[in-house]
Amino acid sequence: MLTFKDIVKSYEEDVLGPISIDIKNKSFVSIIGPSGSGKSTFLRLASGLIKQSSGLIGYNDNLKPKMGFVFQDSNLLPWRTVLDNVLLPLELTKEDKSKSIEKSLKWISRVGLGGKEDSFPNELSGGQKMRVSIARAMVQEGSLLLLDEPFSALDEVTRRRLEDDLLEIWKTNNITILFVTHSVTQAVYLSERVLVMSSGPGVIIEDLLINKKIDVGFEGTHEFLSQVKHLTDILRNEGI
Ligand SMILES: Nc1ncnc2c1ncn2[C@@H]1O[C@H](COP(=O)(O)OP(=O)(O)OP(=O)(O)O)[C@@H](O)[C@H]1O
Ligand SMILES: [Mg+2]
Repeated sequence: MLTFKDIVKSYEEDVLGPISIDIKNKSFVSIIGPSGSGKSTFLRLASGLIKQSSGLIGYNDNLKPKMGFVFQDSNLLPWRTVLDNVLLPLELTKEDKSKSIEKSLKWISRVGLGGKEDSFPNELSGGQKMRVSIARAMVQEGSLLLLDEPFSALDEVTRRRLEDDLLEIWKTNNITILFVTHSVTQAVYLSERVLVMSSGPGVIIEDLLINKKIDVGFEGTHEFLSQVKHLTDILRNEGI
């Protein structure tokens, strides 16, 4: 899906890299690391929002895939309704208007917000705003979804629900997910693979395939806890 080869990003100083990594199609990969290690920079490079200073980024079949980006604050336009926020990415394409509306309504309903189409962002809870943001990121039905600490401002119960809904979206839509988080347990719970970045300039200091033999009740298992401990120990050595 996505390959980084010797990627370095510098501003006045180096902030990231060199990083070489292969992200498999349809995988769910989390990225954790100290503040300032370059996690958001990594996502922005993957999305093409910013350009690397050196190295090569490759995509499947050399074609940049359609992708959606979900930011920490849901980043909605306050003067637009839920429907018009979700429609936004389609307005930038040549998609037929009625088809666009149909797709947007479908995604609003998929994220559990059917009936809220005409609400404005200030009429929604934090969790609902995040759901709109996910619908907006998915409405183009791209193959890559990038999320930058999307759930960190939410309460525990809402966060849990959104995590499970995200897993469902991942499973039913055959997409690849890159997920930045501060939470080790969240990374182990959600993903198939966890990358740990060092303090800046960030390089990848651990690349762990999550051993997830049992899907239901995984969190209580010895495997879950030992992988969380392993990653927590690495972060602790990085000064978190
Ligand atoms: N536009 C920019 N100009 C200069 N430096 C930048 C710019 N964007 C990011 N940086 C620097 O790059 C480093 C990595 O930033 P980045 O936002 O990727 O970190 P992060 O791992 O996402 O941190 P956090 O966990 O706090 O979100 C930081 O030192 C930051 O100051
Ligand atoms: Mg960040």
